[in-house]
Amino acid sequence: MRERLLLSIESSCDESAVALVRGGREVLAERVASQTAIHAPFGGVIPEVAARAHHEWLPRLLGEVLKEAEGLGVASEIEGVALTTGPGLVGSLLVGAGIGSAWAWARGLPVLNVNHLEGHLRAAWLRDAAEVEAPTLPAIGLVVSGGHTLLVRIERDGAVQRLGGTIDDAAGEAFDKIARLLGAPYPGGAALSALAAKAPRGAQITPLPIAKTEGLYDFSFSGVKTAAIRQALVASGLTDQSPGRATTLTRQFAEHPLPEAAAIAIAAATEQAIVGALRAGVQRALRANPDCSLIVGGGVAANGPLRDALANVASEERRTLVVPPLKWCTDNAAMIGAAGEALLRDERGAYQDPSAGVEVHAQWRIGTAVPA
Ligand code: KG4
Ligand code: ZN
Repeated sequence: MRERLLLSIESSCDESAVALVRGGREVLAERVASQTAIHAPFGGVIPEVAARAHHEWLPRLLGEVLKEAEGLGVASEIEGVALTTGPGLVGSLLVGAGIGSAWAWARGLPVLNVNHLEGHLRAAWLRDAAEVEAPTLPAIGLVVSGGHTLLVRIERDGAVQRLGGTIDDAAGEAFDKIARLLGAPYPGGAALSALAAKAPRGAQITPLPIAKTEGLYDFSFSGVKTAAIRQALVASGLTDQSPGRATTLTRQFAEHPLPEAAAIAIAAATEQAIVGALRAGVQRALRANPDCSLIVGGGVAANGPLRDALANVASEERRTLVVPPLKWCTDNAAMIGAAGEALLRDERGAYQDPSAGVEVHAQWRIGTAVPA
């Protein structure tokens, strides 16, 4: 098959990113600028601030990637522009999609409108060495990020069946909220995991409950947060507080910091509960789909114990597992280029006049639902 070259742009949340991807697998150039430091003081992403930062940064990143393309002598080979057009923050999406579609229109190139979640799944196809094998289809795909927790069956390019997902908080959101309670700055997933790793080997961990869901492949993580808050209240001697009042709690915990041992125990219990629930859901899906391999994507796939648990479950079920390198687990544009290539193969490129308006979607579910 001919290996086409795509320019790609990601701006759905707080990473501004541009990449150049050949054949949906080989990354010739990429830039990712994270806005984490800008949003950290607010404890979360502020949409207007994010959009403004994308506006400021994307043209520079685009210029740098195109300069690299010229250096590699491939700038004239770009055949299309892959853009994240949802789900995500509308203002942020509009900036990336607006810049990308204007660039494409000026050069008579087609645009590929990419779903961010398909991007996270497609990251498994990117390779950082020539010998890295592509995943095999059909595959069970797990996306675990700050905003999403999703389990799908990917039949072939363009044919994704939704098996389930979170019914409340996303896995990363649960990590981040509990990390904040334990005093870690936003986004706290990695910090919480580092804290959990301090738990002495064989330490007794009071398990946190995971709520049962109606759907076989659904997840619920908001109960973990409530249970973690309860444990934290007990450990700080604040047992008269109700776990429902988030702002009061944050202030109370700031005034009465948790003893370190308690923070470590709660971090370890949180990680164990979230990883355990994800592992169980993936195992159920693999058992019901014996023809499938396993692929994983999203920022939470950077979590060491989760990677270990999924490697373990894949080996138990005798399946191949592909988890992208860390840099392609968190938001990036290379994965959007990989997903764009799959759309182009499916002839879903479109010539879009940006002056007619660029369409983006705050919500955009992927996949057909599982038939009842
Ligand atoms: O995919 P991503 O970069 O952005 C979204 O699309 O949401 O994911 C970010 C999420 C955050 O919630 C962050 O705390 C979490 O991934 N994360 C982790 C780890 N590294 C990043 N969660 C747990 N353990 C980690 N090591
Ligand atoms: Zn993401």
